[in-house]
Amino acid sequence: MKRPIAEFAGTARYVPPRVVTNQDFEKIFDTSDQWIRERSGIRERHYSTDTETIAFMASDAARRVLDEAGIAPDTIDGLVVATASPDRLLPSQACDIQAALGIPNAAAFDVGAACSGFLYAATVAEGMIANGMLHTVLVVGAERLTRIMDAEDRSTAILFGDGAGVALLQPATNGRGILSSYLRSDGTLGNLLYRQGGGALEPPSEEMLANRSYFLRMAGREVFKSAVRSMADACDQALQRAQLRGEDIDVLIPHQANTRIIEATAKHASIPMDKVYVNVDRYGNTSAASIPMALDEAVRGGRIERGMTVMLVAFGAGFTWASMVVRW
Ligand code: ACO
Repeated sequence: MKRPIAEFAGTARYVPPRVVTNQDFEKIFDTSDQWIRERSGIRERHYSTDTETIAFMASDAARRVLDEAGIAPDTIDGLVVATASPDRLLPSQACDIQAALGIPNAAAFDVGAACSGFLYAATVAEGMIANGMLHTVLVVGAERLTRIMDAEDRSTAILFGDGAGVALLQPATNGRGILSSYLRSDGTLGNLLYRQGGGALEPPSEEMLANRSYFLRMAGREVFKSAVRSMADACDQALQRAQLRGEDIDVLIPHQANTRIIEATAKHASIPMDKVYVNVDRYGNTSAASIPMALDEAVRGGRIERGMTVMLVAFGAGFTWASMVVRW
């Protein structure tokens, strides 16, 4: 087993107060609370308001991380941000968060891997701590998917929510930290979950507006099958690299997209559901924010305690998938 190089020294989350329930959707299109709960496990999700931007949500959570860790903003030398729904396309989301937070000495940049983004960002940060490039790094997963989903498409509108999660990564102490990580992608499946309009390929135009092609599109059933397969692979790889078995994991934090995907992942890894952290019922799919938000909730709620072995596993557009085993 490798000696940890970097550890999570703090976490925080931001959850927008506005709640949208399944019953709210029953008033908008042909759906039912029962259908949504049976297919996805989601009961409600949180929507950001106009002022709850990614920069606002992420900097609010990051400020809490710094306060609780007793770290001065100018000692942060890295800010790695994962988001699929940035406030604007240029400059990077990380630079806008840097400005909102006031961390002048940080190298700030984005990492794009959709729902797997937080684990990609944390792994990049870990590598940069390992090679001595960075020391004290904020890793952010933050999303406003409700701004880029088609509110009239009942097959996707029911799934997504907004929020932000932040973690502080520092050089490991006392054997705590990241024991293994695994990143993987398959770009040939990119057209199963994508957002076409508004980029350089299809710049804003009247046609783009008429086609509604600036909204996220997803082939739900195909994504579901790939998610189950890829998250199983991600669990196997992270466990193998940490020389551990499913039985050794105290808490599994999976990407919160769908309870059926979560249950299949836990079963494959031989981890009983009472060791699996689930909050998709309350937050829906918050993409890159899902894992850091769940991690923070599990830590603050006492589900994760010092010394525990925690596995994080994600899947998202790209397709991308990723996993990490952490000694907390
Ligand atoms: N209410 C009622 N009926 C609906 C709704 C709705 N909200 N949405 C779709 N339906 C209908 C469909 O029209 C279809 O009807 P038909 O059979 O007459 O054509 C039927 O329900 C079944 O539709 P499916 O899409 O096949 O339903 P499925 O069981 O696959 O569940 C779901 C849909 C929940 C979206 C599921 O496919 C899923 O969770 N997929 C994975 C999503 C995911 O994990 N994404 C992760 C990555 S997200 C990211 O990276 C940003």
